[in-house]
Amino acid sequence: MQRTKLVAGNWKMNLLQSTGSALVEAFLQKVELRQDVDVVVCPPYTLLGRLREELRRSHIHLGAQDVFWAEEGAFTGRVSPKMLADLGVSHCIVGHSETRGRFGKLETAENTLGFFAETEETIALKIRALFFHSIEPILCVGETLAERQAGQTEAIIAKQLEGALSGFDAAELFFFVVAYEPVWAIGTGETCATEEAERICEFIRDWFRTKFGDPDLPDHIRILYGGSVKSVNAKELFSQPNIDGGLVGGASLDANEFAKIVASA
Ligand code: PGA
Repeated sequence: MQRTKLVAGNWKMNLLQSTGSALVEAFLQKVELRQDVDVVVCPPYTLLGRLREELRRSHIHLGAQDVFWAEEGAFTGRVSPKMLADLGVSHCIVGHSETRGRFGKLETAENTLGFFAETEETIALKIRALFFHSIEPILCVGETLAERQAGQTEAIIAKQLEGALSGFDAAELFFFVVAYEPVWAIGTGETCATEEAERICEFIRDWFRTKFGDPDLPDHIRILYGGSVKSVNAKELFSQPNIDGGLVGGASLDANEFAKIVASA
């Protein structure tokens, strides 16, 4: 089955109104949008409203980087899926290693890690809440360097998938997006070797086959690779049979680079 490629830019905690708008404008001038590639831009919450206006005439989708699961109420500092839907958000990252508190190189004081304490249970709640508003989750999974060195890569990924998705039916997951993001490759400049990224993405597809027993489901799931994707490695990564595009951090902040990465898909 031919799956539509997807390239998502995760701006993380970067850019202000002026610089965010300038980036989008430059990107729109350089990018050649095609029917067979979905492009998603995930700015910080503060820029969603403004970017919605700027992306209105393009076919680029607007994504958020995180969400809370309740609809509204006394949850200081949180943003609900209802609020995202109101802003025209169509995609939302969940379970990113940074919101799970699993960092590659960034030094984070041990006593502040609790702030990033996303768990499999909260991820499952977020996915359910996003589905309710027809927002497509992009579920991130991936192992740390220590877990890889201990030979636990597949076990960790299976645990993350199981924890986030075991309460769902196959029918709910037909348009689901998973991003394989090895923690040690995020923002470090170290990319996972193409064959290894493909092997793990195939493992993820097989997990859906075994878990849900629906023979059609695995062919519909889009699996992205993320972790130091750049224009020089995107083409090779995206041409693998089980890699359906990328989740791009640092390189999505450069209009030229991001346009080239989209062109590689
Ligand atoms: P990176 O980030 O491309 O800067 O490695 C990827 C991500 O965290 O989604």
